[in-house]
Amino acid sequence: MDLFRLAAPFYDCLMKVAGHQKTIKRAVEQVRIKPDDVICDIGAGTGQLSRLLPAENKIIMVDSSVRMLKKARKKVANQSAEIVTSRAQNLSLEDNSCDLVFCIDALHHFERTGAALAEMKRIVRDRGAIVIMEFDPANRKTRIMQQLEELVGEPGCFYSPDKLAAFFKKFGCKTEVIELSSWQYVLLASDDLTGRRGIDGF
Ligand SMILES: C[S@@+](CC[C@H](N)C(=O)[O-])C[C@H]1O[C@@H](n2cnc3c(N)ncnc32)[C@H](O)[C@@H]1O
Repeated sequence: MDLFRLAAPFYDCLMKVAGHQKTIKRAVEQVRIKPDDVICDIGAGTGQLSRLLPAENKIIMVDSSVRMLKKARKKVANQSAEIVTSRAQNLSLEDNSCDLVFCIDALHHFERTGAALAEMKRIVRDRGAIVIMEFDPANRKTRIMQQLEELVGEPGCFYSPDKLAAFFKKFGCKTEVIELSSWQYVLLASDDLTGRRGIDGF
């Protein structure tokens, strides 16, 4: 089943009920965005994150679902935002082409998460940062979500913060985990996080 092809018309309503926008906002606040940053939003969906980003930044929205991206095009005010239909595990973007890479509530939907993480590292520039918002499988709510997603054919590959951090440490990155709630966290990864932490950090 192609979940997001079916869900695209209702996605924003469902997320409104779930309070998703607030979570996204808190995730974005964890990182400092500079005016000339090129920002890539992987698994951008209907553009719930991209619409919050500053209008002066170059934004690239990547998703495998044409239907989700169609909604994003209408919603994101920054008309110069680029829309790319591509799979996260095989991105059609140049090496070192982005300063910030966001992946919000999307990693566990990817078929080959290891390859997707390597792609994020490949496209991010030195002193840039990768920002991933995910759900901790140690929490019961995440496990229920995993079972429901698996029922509709989704991979449901949820990583603990430690396991996700270990991936990036292997790539030579420094990492930091910020708990957003008992089951939601943000992981920041970069070769150098200095000056990149947002309002809650240094
Ligand atoms: C739960 S939605 C999250 C969308 C958005 N980031 C948000 O927070 O509202 C997950 C998104 O990941 C996309 N997706 C799933 N597998 C993908 C893949 N292999 N490559 C790129 N995007 C993918 C889906 O099409 C969907 O839009």
